[in-house]
Amino acid sequence: MQTQTLTIALSKGRIFQDTLPLLEQAGIVPLDDPVASRKLILDTNLAHVKVVVIRAADVPTYVQYGAADLGVAGKDVLMEGGSSELYEPLDLNIARCRLMVAAPKQPRPIHGRLRIATKYVNIARDYYATKGEQVEIIKLYGAMELAPLVGLADRIVDLVETGNTLKANGLEPTETIAHISSRLVVNKAAMKMKHEPIKRLIAQLRDAVSAAKAA
Ligand code: ATP
Ligand code: PRP
Repeated sequence: MQTQTLTIALSKGRIFQDTLPLLEQAGIVPLDDPVASRKLILDTNLAHVKVVVIRAADVPTYVQYGAADLGVAGKDVLMEGGSSELYEPLDLNIARCRLMVAAPKQPRPIHGRLRIATKYVNIARDYYATKGEQVEIIKLYGAMELAPLVGLADRIVDLVETGNTLKANGLEPTETIAHISSRLVVNKAAMKMKHEPIKRLIAQLRDAVSAAKAA
């Protein structure tokens, strides 16, 4: 029987770098570095396995539509986008951080509704709705930490790892919304049609995650 192909979606940067050692333990080594080559489809040492390199927020879409069989996505991205169309069989325990509310150390007086700047508009809306607070959500695409400094917002909802970015900008974390790490996601049809190779890869990655935790 012919070996079934597998396409794995990864985003450039920390997810690619942190997933590499796990894939290597599963016997998969990309033959190019996406930063150096600028290729978007990478061959690997296994002829039937390819890696596609895309934006972090696009990983669930590629996997949901079957353009990739599997992918690695931050839990933040999955929570924001709604991930019910995907299987999420494994916490890879990489790219760990927290999704937090942060506020200026010296807050300005607030008139009217609290303004929250974030790229996580759905998560922020749900969070404040659950608390029963009426807020105005302002969608940004990056550098959220700037918004309170220039009077655009009273708070931000963003990822925090070391806290250095908040500190450098006179902000402090006030509430934790969720603990975040990256997850393996799998296309539902591929899980059925390519069950054996996907099951094997999940098991190998699970072992690699356990070994990394024990190290
Ligand atoms: P793009 O691919 O569009 O550049 P991005 O800038 O969100 O997206 P990254 O900064 O590499 O890409 O973040 C990818 C994922 O890594 C996030 O979705 C989150 O789960 C996690 N992450 C982001 N920032 C941190 C951080 N400082 N520490 C640990 N994990 C992080
Ligand atoms: C992320 C996040 C914060 C920062 C937090 O940004 O958006 O700004 O990391 O990390 P810290 O708590 O360790 O300072 P990132 O470095 O990924 O930059 P980007 O959002 O521009 O990709």
